[in-house]
Amino acid sequence: DANDKFVLELPKVELHVHIEGTLTPELRWELAKRNGQTLKLERTGTVYTSLEQLRASYTIIEPRPGHSIDNAEESFTFFEAYYGGFEVLVTEQDFFDLAMNYFRRAAAVNVRYCEPFFDPQGHTRRGISWETMMRGFRKAQQEAEKTLGIKSNWIMCFLRDLPVESAMEHYHAVLSYRDMVIGIGLDSDETNRPPSLFAEIFALARQAGFRLTAHCDVGQPTTHDNIRQVASVLGGSGAERIDHGLNAAQSQELIQLIKKNGVGMTITPWGYLRHQPVDEIFPRIRTLYEAGIPIAIGSDDPPYMEDCWLLHHLLLAKKMCEFTDQDMATMARRAVDMSWAPEAVRADIR
Ligand code: ADE
Ligand code: ZN
Repeated sequence: DANDKFVLELPKVELHVHIEGTLTPELRWELAKRNGQTLKLERTGTVYTSLEQLRASYTIIEPRPGHSIDNAEESFTFFEAYYGGFEVLVTEQDFFDLAMNYFRRAAAVNVRYCEPFFDPQGHTRRGISWETMMRGFRKAQQEAEKTLGIKSNWIMCFLRDLPVESAMEHYHAVLSYRDMVIGIGLDSDETNRPPSLFAEIFALARQAGFRLTAHCDVGQPTTHDNIRQVASVLGGSGAERIDHGLNAAQSQELIQLIKKNGVGMTITPWGYLRHQPVDEIFPRIRTLYEAGIPIAIGSDDPPYMEDCWLLHHLLLAKKMCEFTDQDMATMARRAVDMSWAPEAVRADIR
C-alpha cells in the first residue's frame, strides 16, 4: 500500500547484514550442483535430495530454556543452519554470486550504500584461500557499483567463539585488503565470550584506522556488561557502533553512555521475535529512537529468518513501534550519518 511505497522509496543504507547469511536455499542448491557437492546435514547424515527439503532446513527451531523439542533430530540452532551453508562457497565465482545476489536485492529496495559483514574464519578453516574469497567479493562490489549504482564497504567479523589467536591471524591477513575492508566486527556465539577477550586486537585495529563495531546479542545473560564494554572501552575508547544491543533500552545509564559516546545501533527486529516477547522488543526500539540514538535497521540473515529482507524489517518496525513516515525518514537519515561512507556519498543519499 501507500505506506509501503514511502518506505520502499526512501534512500537507504544497510549496515547489518551477514553476506553468508544471505545465502538462499535456491542459490545454495545451484552452487552445490555446480561444485558437484552432495548437500547433507553432518550431525545426522541427512542428505538433501530436493530443493524443497533444503528449503525446509532453513526453518530454525532453537532449544529454549525450559522447553524441550519433540523432533530434536530434525531441528537446528541458527548457527548450525548458518554455518552449514558455508560449504557451497568454494570458488571465486561462488563468492561473487553470493554477493551479487545480495546487492541485487538491496538495490531493488533503494539501498544506495551498504556495509556487509563477512566471516573469513568460516572459510579459511575449510581450506578456502583469502584470495578466492576476496576476489569474488571485490568483483561483486565493483559490478554492483557499476550496474546497480550501489556502493559498499566490507566489515570483517571475528568469530568470537573461536580462539583469540585465530582472530589475530585473520586481523593480520586482512591488512592486504585494507582498501575494501572498512571495519572490524565481532559475531557468532556470544555465550561466555565477552568483547573484552578481543581488546588487544580491537585496539590494534583502531590504531590502524579501521572502524569498529561488535554484536551484543539480544537476551544474552551478560548483555548489559557487554554493551557497556563495547560502548566505552573496546578499541581503547569504545566502538562506534553496537550491533543489536537492544537491552540498552532497559537502562538509563546505558542509554546515557551510548548517547554521550555517540554510538549508533544496528537493529534487526524480525530476528528478535524468536527469543523475546513482542511487547518487550518494540517498546525498546521506540525508547532508543526517542532517546535520539541513531538506529540503522538491518536484515541480518534473511533466508534464515523466514525470508525477511530489509523492507520487511523496516515495515515491521514501523507498524509495531507506530512510527510515522516522518519517523522512518528521520531514522533513515540518522542511519546514513552513522554509516562509514565518505561524506560525499552520504550527502548524496541524504
Ligand atoms: N553471524 C551471522 N549471523 C549472526 C547473528 N544473527 N548473530 C551472531 N552472529 C551471527
Ligand atoms: Zn548479525
